[in-house]
Amino acid sequence: MATKQMISALVKSRQSIRAFTNQAISQHELQEMLQLASRSPSGTNIQPWKVYVVQGNKKIEIQNAVKQAVIAVSENPEQKGWYEAAFQYYPKQWFEPYLSRRRANGWGLYNLLDIQKHEKQKMQAHLLRNFEFFGAPVGIFFTAHENLHASAKMAIAMFMQTFMLVAKGYGFDSCPQAAWNDYHKVILPLLGAEPDEQLICGMALGYADPQHIINEYYTPRIPVQDFAVFLD
Ligand SMILES: Cc1cc2nc3c(=O)[nH]c(=O)nc-3n(C[C@H](O)[C@H](O)[C@H](O)COP(=O)(O)O)c2cc1C
Repeated sequence: MATKQMISALVKSRQSIRAFTNQAISQHELQEMLQLASRSPSGTNIQPWKVYVVQGNKKIEIQNAVKQAVIAVSENPEQKGWYEAAFQYYPKQWFEPYLSRRRANGWGLYNLLDIQKHEKQKMQAHLLRNFEFFGAPVGIFFTAHENLHASAKMAIAMFMQTFMLVAKGYGFDSCPQAAWNDYHKVILPLLGAEPDEQLICGMALGYADPQHIINEYYTPRIPVQDFAVFLD
């Protein structure tokens, strides 16, 4: 049985990694990690997750298709409406305290990358790295049947966290990526998905690049007393 110290160290060791080496992951390890992550709970054990693991040429094909779509939107903003996630992920209008936390997160990353407020092109270039899985050799897409609604999204979120912790145990790092969701109309056909599948999230997986400064960003958390209510 894992000790308190082991669990604590594992949980604290996971952080979103945004620069990877190109070292591949074996098929055997990928399968083992997915099997372990499938121990995640799901309402009435429906196990709604479908997982696409993309590597090599398929990964490049998807990256290129999405980057083309991103460029098309930047050149013709009217196309933006067509590229929208199948479900609303963030609020249309941000509000406090989330707005400040979100800004702090952005600036934490931009400061490390030495990107200043007016340097929109550099910001855009950083965001585009999402669509290269930040250089990771493995990209993952999580999908579910669209009629499963919130049950699938909650279960997949749990699957993803279990998977990311399992991956740490195997020596790998990850970054969950909702950035892909807006491009589901481009991605799903390239995955060979069924028409009733919904893209829930993407993820980058690989070995962290220890040289890259962006991986030094370790995010803060608010203390328990600021988010937990104990009633007796
Ligand atoms: C569902 C979900 C989607 C996310 N999507 C992205 C993304 O598209 N791109 C990105 O760089 N980070 C993404 N992140 C990572 C968050 O920014 C990160 O989890 C948060 O800042 C906390 O940092 P940590 O993961 O290092 O603890 C996502 C995280 C979650 C949980």
